[in-house]
Amino acid sequence: MSDLFSPFSLRGVTLKNRIGVSPMCMYSCRDDGVPTDWHMQHLASRSVGGAGLVITEASAVVPEGRITPADVGIWNDTQMDAHARIVAAVEATGSVAGIQIAHAGRKASRAEPWVHGPAKPSWTTMAPSAEAFEGFAQPHAMTEAEIGAAIAAFVDAAKRSVKAGYRFIEIHGAHGYLAHQFCSPISNRRNDSWGGDFDGRTRFVREVAAAVRAAIPTDTALALRISHTDWVEGGWTTEESVELARQVKALGVDLIDVSSGGLDAGQKIPLGPGYQVPGAAAVKSGAAMPVAAVGLITEPKHAQEILAEGKADLILLARVLLREPYWPVRAAAELGRVEALSIPPQYERGWNTIAPWQMDKAIAEPMQAL
Ligand SMILES: Cc1cc2nc3c(=O)[nH]c(=O)nc-3n(C[C@H](O)[C@H](O)[C@H](O)COP(=O)(O)O)c2cc1C
Repeated sequence: MSDLFSPFSLRGVTLKNRIGVSPMCMYSCRDDGVPTDWHMQHLASRSVGGAGLVITEASAVVPEGRITPADVGIWNDTQMDAHARIVAAVEATGSVAGIQIAHAGRKASRAEPWVHGPAKPSWTTMAPSAEAFEGFAQPHAMTEAEIGAAIAAFVDAAKRSVKAGYRFIEIHGAHGYLAHQFCSPISNRRNDSWGGDFDGRTRFVREVAAAVRAAIPTDTALALRISHTDWVEGGWTTEESVELARQVKALGVDLIDVSSGGLDAGQKIPLGPGYQVPGAAAVKSGAAMPVAAVGLITEPKHAQEILAEGKADLILLARVLLREPYWPVRAAAELGRVEALSIPPQYERGWNTIAPWQMDKAIAEPMQAL
């Protein structure tokens, strides 16, 4: 039985608690994939807020693998140096810095989400098959050489991530992006060794996982984010996810981060608090390996319950941390775990005389001691 505030170790990496910042694209680069001060502040703020793990957004392994021209990249050394600043800032607070490495495949080449109106493709896209995602440009079917180059790009990105100081690397195999496009029979219509049956469709992600594992230090943690189901009849299933997890575990993947959907516009998602947790629990028990749960987990008691019931080992939070970077502090307070608060020493004066949820008392605190 794990506790939200108990440490969690994967290989040589120990998180101080079970709370992680889920990767979130900020669409805030200029057209060069170099992380900016915005990314640095955004991620460092969440580590100051107390999350044990902070995962930098989907970082493209090649320019054409970006969702939008404003995505972060990790395909060159200038980007790597900017990532190193993020790592230093995040790790200075006692959080572990992680990165998600990604290729968007047929869902690349879009405008930023807040640029309303029709998508404005900037470059042509590739995918396992020449099947467009609804509303997106038609991709071309990848050649053997392009598949090999994409795998090599994941490896280069992983090596750069390690050089930048990241200790947790997550391969993006979810949300309808390239690796997921290979896995799902809806988007993969190939009949060569990269498609067809389960083995063929999962070959790309297995090869990426094996090659990345071989290229990074043994004490670096390696995770794979999957969509455990497409939520579409005839699509990728939870049972296949469990089998994939078993296989990548044998290849050295340490944790499966269990999300869902994003592959097909016809998906019917039963949205509700913790709606993806059953997928995480299925992978955890079926593959006997650590998993992260994510998706509409917003209340500390709920997060604690998921861990206590043995359904997951790590809780990833996204949107709630956008509005509440100090969620881990609230969680410690609400769960009666004030001793587990992880406040940077520079900020202790703000918290040590009062409970954080009693801010009105702070106003009344005598000023003489300042
Ligand atoms: C602004 C934003 C950007 C996101 N970018 C990514 C991303 O880069 N990679 C990814 O795997 N998921 C991404 N997601 C999905 C989140 O990581 C998370 O899985 C999802 O929001 C569900 O968690 P939540 O209910 O706590 O927000 C993004 C979500 C948001 C809100």
